[in-house]
Amino acid sequence: MFKVIFRCVLFLTLLYNITSQKTCAETFCGKLRKSPKGFPSYSLDLSTAVVVENHKLMGNLSSEDGTRILYLEVFCSVSHTLVGIEDIQVQQQMGNVNSFIRHSSSVPQTLKKTTNDNETIILTFVNTKAVVYANPFKIEVHYKDTLVATINGKGRLVIQNSAAALDVTFPGAQHAYGIPLHAENLALRTTTNGDMDPYRLYNHNSGQYKLKSTEALQSSVPLLYTHGKTQSSGIFWTGFSQSWVDITHGNNRIDTYIMNEMALIGTVIFNGPTIANAVAQGALIRNNPFTMPKYSTLGYHQSRNSYASQNEVLNLINQFKTANLPLESVWLDINHTDNGKYFTWDPVRFSNPIGLLNELAADNRSLVITIGPHIKREKGYFVHEEASSKRYYIRNIDGTDYIGKSLPGECSYIDFVNPNAMKYYSSLFSLEIFKADNLLVFLDLNEPTVFDNELHENTLPSNLLLEYDEESFLPYTYLHNRYVDYQLRATFLGIGSNLPLQARPFIATHSHSMIDMSFNPVITGDNYASWEHLQISFPMCLSEALGHTNMCGANVGGFAGIPDEELYQRWYQAGAWLPFYRAHFASDVPPREPYVYSDKVKNRVRNALYQRYAHLPVWYTLVWEVTITLKPIIRPLLYHYPKEEATFTIDNELLLGADILAAPVVKRGALMVSVYLPGGESEVWYNIDDNYKALRGVGHQIFNVNLDSVPVFYRGGSIIARKDTPRLTSAATVSDPYTLFICLNTTNGASGTLYVDDYETMNYFWKTEYLYMGFSFTDNSLYAYKIHENADYEGAAPVGEILVLNPPRNVVNARLEIRHKIRDNFATISYSNEGHVLKLSNLSLNLREPFRLTLLPSV
Ligand SMILES: *[C@@H]1O[C@H](CO)[C@@H](O)[C@H](O)[C@H]1NC(C)=O
Ligand SMILES: *[C@@H]1O[C@H](CO)[C@@H](O)[C@H](O)[C@H]1NC(C)=O
Ligand SMILES: *[C@@H]1O[C@H](CO)[C@@H](O)[C@H](O)[C@H]1NC(C)=O
Ligand SMILES: *[C@@H]1O[C@H](CO)[C@@H](O)[C@H](O)[C@H]1NC(C)=O
Ligand SMILES: *[C@@H]1O[C@H](CO)[C@@H](O)[C@H](O)[C@H]1NC(C)=O
Ligand SMILES: *[C@@H]1O[C@H](CO)[C@@H](O)[C@H](O)[C@H]1NC(C)=O
Repeated sequence: MFKVIFRCVLFLTLLYNITSQKTCAETFCGKLRKSPKGFPSYSLDLSTAVVVENHKLMGNLSSEDGTRILYLEVFCSVSHTLVGIEDIQVQQQMGNVNSFIRHSSSVPQTLKKTTNDNETIILTFVNTKAVVYANPFKIEVHYKDTLVATINGKGRLVIQNSAAALDVTFPGAQHAYGIPLHAENLALRTTTNGDMDPYRLYNHNSGQYKLKSTEALQSSVPLLYTHGKTQSSGIFWTGFSQSWVDITHGNNRIDTYIMNEMALIGTVIFNGPTIANAVAQGALIRNNPFTMPKYSTLGYHQSRNSYASQNEVLNLINQFKTANLPLESVWLDINHTDNGKYFTWDPVRFSNPIGLLNELAADNRSLVITIGPHIKREKGYFVHEEASSKRYYIRNIDGTDYIGKSLPGECSYIDFVNPNAMKYYSSLFSLEIFKADNLLVFLDLNEPTVFDNELHENTLPSNLLLEYDEESFLPYTYLHNRYVDYQLRATFLGIGSNLPLQARPFIATHSHSMIDMSFNPVITGDNYASWEHLQISFPMCLSEALGHTNMCGANVGGFAGIPDEELYQRWYQAGAWLPFYRAHFASDVPPREPYVYSDKVKNRVRNALYQRYAHLPVWYTLVWEVTITLKPIIRPLLYHYPKEEATFTIDNELLLGADILAAPVVKRGALMVSVYLPGGESEVWYNIDDNYKALRGVGHQIFNVNLDSVPVFYRGGSIIARKDTPRLTSAATVSDPYTLFICLNTTNGASGTLYVDDYETMNYFWKTEYLYMGFSFTDNSLYAYKIHENADYEGAAPVGEILVLNPPRNVVNARLEIRHKIRDNFATISYSNEGHVLKLSNLSLNLREPFRLTLLPSV
């Protein structure tokens, strides 16, 4: 008991103290940031430069003082240019290690045409051109004769034995975005004025974090985009270790300086030329999800620190049911284990986990349990016994197991880079309990967390070793930010090989980096119940979206602190428009499940939840489209309106796909809000919060709001599929009919898509059992067709209702044509909203057969 309390106290202390983070000056960054002061400049030794079989340029760079020789590689491809630079001596010393690291990022390419003279080497591939200048060494990347980026134009290249840095300038850019995760505005700021530190990428458990800050949080994605009215680009680099990034806004140009804790730097420059192109090019670098998530991932999830017994879980579920509140899963933290030992259950409080899972399964609900990469060092604990005897733990330099304090007490950390250790960790997910496909996992404390704020910023110290091959070791620092990737892979493989062949995995994670195999849900961290934290959740998740982490959410209501009722309701309304929708709160605050509130509050929360559930078909279709187009699910306005300058810095609105603009109220006591509607005179936006009133996309407009208001707009020209029957789980909506919203544009046209499968299995993949539908509306006629003609699925619900916004007048008949068979007067027709909405009801249109539906006005 004392032990438990002690651990609790320790945990709370960690979370409530603002972690003291290292400044740039306190790390390798301090010295590098001063370059070129104190560092030599480089030139390309042309006698060493070779272009191998039109594939790549290789050559040596030598420092002016002759102290260093660097190895250079440049590749051009259709959409990007790759540049790798590393120290030759370090490369020789490290041998396999570097190839191990480089391997994980190398993108083989082919070059078509090269010319070679004494001063420059020009590489071209389709529209990409890289001009490599020999002395002083720099590279200009061009796309169709427009300069996209200059590498080392300022001569700030540094390679040391344990760090590297490179300057890259992007002409034509006004803003920079990306490099999640920071608690920061969407548009990144200049870091080189005054006493600001660069943006830092260093996965660590940062507890209650500062807002509008360049400090590192628990996740790192080294993808940065630049954007201006005429040109967009982006850069990826080998930020597998700690990185710092300086950003300077120049006159129509962005200067970046990337500092990396590794003796090599590999970068990929994206051609753009639009921001959507650049984001698509960034997607090619990431390990993007290829498995559809369970449908329930998109519903609402409830967590607290911590539901402590199976009775508490069942009681919670009953309360949700009684209050008619939808719920998909209940989350348990380490408290569910037997004394902090992952892969075990507390024998008293969770005496019958299989029984509990069965009860939840009867309602289509799930249990999510926390699992860590840190293993409690307790004699007799089967995981520790195996991991220590087989040497699966991360080592100290002297070869002993590293031991650190984490939530369970003294722990050692699985070395996932060691293939055998990885295999072993994977095998843990074949324990009998994981056969239940409603037992889901949340990988927590996986930065990884060590309770050592003072010395090591709550994560592993830097002088540790990973065993990447038998008795071959690699400095842990090289892969610090990617540690979590290895754990995710191990978990994915473990769960994948254990689940019934057909099931889809659900792996939520606290930390993340470059791997996302199955739409891993992520959260913005241990936030606080304040308006500022609610506000920043939008730019944080939008930044994640640009970096191709799709399933992002913030703890609804805030983790720490106590939200007042207004903030609480607003958070549910806003949270419904972020991809991952989960409430979570600390152990020392009063219960905060929606059912504990008054009817008034409960009703608004319920409405927010129902609004989310009504749009599940839209979310699901966009998720599917990620797997085929890699376009993010949520997008900042500038993604679709890249020439409208006002969109470049909009933080508090988002686009769900291209067609829904959400601008929930995130200010205390708001009676009016200003919402920016983009697109100009020719763009129509229908206010679904106000009788589908049609507005033009002419910029900021003022809306009166009350506590029930959630400003959300459908784009004219879109067709949106909803399911409006209120249900308590996503599964329960499956056979409910669709309502199609046909939102006409200024030329009375609209189009849209809808994806349907069985929501559960991999049959969409193995058996092409799905429907991917296109809808198009022109000349008063709706045409529904299969986009993927060879795919088919029997179980799709029918379309039960169609609403046309800004419809033709006097429609008295709807004619249906299926395979040349024509039926008249088959729908109930009514107008509302002074003729601005036309409703066709009492339909039952099967989506498997293409149909045409024509609206016929009276003559
Ligand atoms: C590059 O420099 C290294 C070290 O001096 C040397 O061994 C190597 O041969 C050089 N590469 C070429 C292509 O000359
Ligand atoms: C490089 O320059 C030298 C001297 O200026 C000249 O002799 C040589 O032909 C040039 N090589 C090429 C490939 O142009
Ligand atoms: C964990 O469980 C114990 C019961 O053994 C309980 O007393 C404690 O408060 C729980 N801790 C948290 C953080 O919920
Ligand atoms: C569970 O989901 C299935 C469809 O996936 C549905 O038919 C069934 O009615 C659901 N059960 C409950 C209790 O909602
Ligand atoms: C309206 O929508 C139709 C169908 O998608 C499209 O062909 C047309 O170009 C759109 N008109 C405008 C002004 O966007
Ligand atoms: C709905 O359609 C059925 C036949 O398709 C018809 O019998 C019924 O009267 C219709 N109901 C309404 C309310 O129009």
